[in-house]
Amino acid sequence: MKKKIVKLDINNHVYEVLVSATDLLVDVIRKQIGLTGTKKGCGQGDCGACTVLVDGEAQLSCLMLAIACEGKKITTIEGIANQETGELHPLQQAFLDHGAVQCGFCTPGMVLSSKALVDNNPTPTEEEIKHALEGNLCRCTGYVLILEAVESYVDSLAKGEV
Ligand code: FES
Ligand code: FES
Repeated sequence: MKKKIVKLDINNHVYEVLVSATDLLVDVIRKQIGLTGTKKGCGQGDCGACTVLVDGEAQLSCLMLAIACEGKKITTIEGIANQETGELHPLQQAFLDHGAVQCGFCTPGMVLSSKALVDNNPTPTEEEIKHALEGNLCRCTGYVLILEAVESYVDSLAKGEV
């Protein structure tokens, strides 16, 4: 299949990649760009492991064509830590502090879905958090600790601590 060079803005860095019309964003991010924080689980839109932010919204990168993402701003889990100091984003830290990470396979997607929610709605209710995370499956921790982690981040944000 004929390939085309596209420019993808990922974590505020523009990458030029050679893609075919059917190359999936998740595969380009992981295999061509080498950002393996984005996970590929089911590959068919069921698990949320591949979640990235596209123009600030949580999207499943296994359902997106890379070629369609030119001109959009993509953020992966590698892009939310402090780029200068390497310090984790407070939401990542909250997951660690609350033991909401076990194997970590679902964690990037969980964090990015939560971030998209809180960026748009800094004071979500428990129901709104659950709704935002309902497409992200975790096979390890159960969801209580994950919910606690997000709620604690929301709380810290409200208190101006982060
Ligand atoms: S890998 Fe994309 S939803 Fe499962
Ligand atoms: S921590 Fe293992 S799948 Fe969620």
